[in-house]
Amino acid sequence: MRQKHLKYVNQVLLKEQDVVVDVEQIPIDHRPTFLEIGSGKGLFITSIAKDHPENHYIAMEVNINVCYRILEKKNEINLTNLTIVLGDAEGLLNYFSPQSIDGLYLNFSDPWPKKKHHKRRLTFPRFLEKYQVILKNQAFIQFRTDHIDLFDNSIEYMHPYMLIESIEYDLPESSYMTEYEIKKRKLGPIYQLIGRITHHAKETL
Ligand SMILES: C[S@@+](CC[C@H](N)C(=O)[O-])C[C@H]1O[C@@H](n2cnc3c(N)ncnc32)[C@H](O)[C@@H]1O
Repeated sequence: MRQKHLKYVNQVLLKEQDVVVDVEQIPIDHRPTFLEIGSGKGLFITSIAKDHPENHYIAMEVNINVCYRILEKKNEINLTNLTIVLGDAEGLLNYFSPQSIDGLYLNFSDPWPKKKHHKRRLTFPRFLEKYQVILKNQAFIQFRTDHIDLFDNSIEYMHPYMLIESIEYDLPESSYMTEYEIKKRKLGPIYQLIGRITHHAKETL
C-alpha cells in the first residue's frame, strides 16, 4: 500500500496516545481478544470494535503513516477497547503470550506474487507457525483477499495447520469491510477463508 508521508507523525506522538511502539508484551485480560495484522487505515477493526465493546481488539500495522490513520479513527469514536500496535508480524511472539488470542483477521494482506517473495506472505507457513503459538485452541483465522493466486496458495498453506471451516469464492458485502475491500469490490470477486486452529493438527503433519 503506497502511503502519503505524514511529516508530523512520529513514534513519540503515537506513544503519547497509547499506541504500542516498543516491542513489548501486550496486556491481555479476561475479555475475548481479537487481532488484525496489517490493519491498513483501520476501517474494519475500528468498526467491529465499536459494535463489540465487550471484546478487546488489537490492530497491528507496520507502516507508521497508516497506523496514524487507525489512531485518528480510534480517537474520533472514542474507542476504549482497541489497542494499536506499530509493529511487524515477524516479531509476533515478542508481543503475545502463547494461547492468548481468540481470533485473527488477515484482510487483503500483500500478495507478494513473485515466487521468491512468497515467504513474506502473512499466510506463509513460517507465519502460520507463529499464529499457532499465540492463538487459543479453537481460535479462528479469517483471511480475505481479492488475489486468487494468493487465496489458492493460502488454502494449501493453511490446510495442515487448521480445520478449514469455510471457503468462499464470491463473498457478499458485509458490515465490516476494509478500505481495500470497498475499493477492490468494484473490480471483481472477494475471496474468504475461515480456519479453526486445532493444536493437534500439527502433530499429524
Ligand atoms: C494491502 S494493505 C491492506 C490494508 C488493510 N488490511 C485493508 O484491507 O485495507 C496491507 C497492509 O499490511 C501491512 N503489513 C504488511 N506486512 C506486515 C507485517 N509483516 N506486519 C504488520 N503489518 C504488515 C502493510 O503496511 C499494509 O498496510
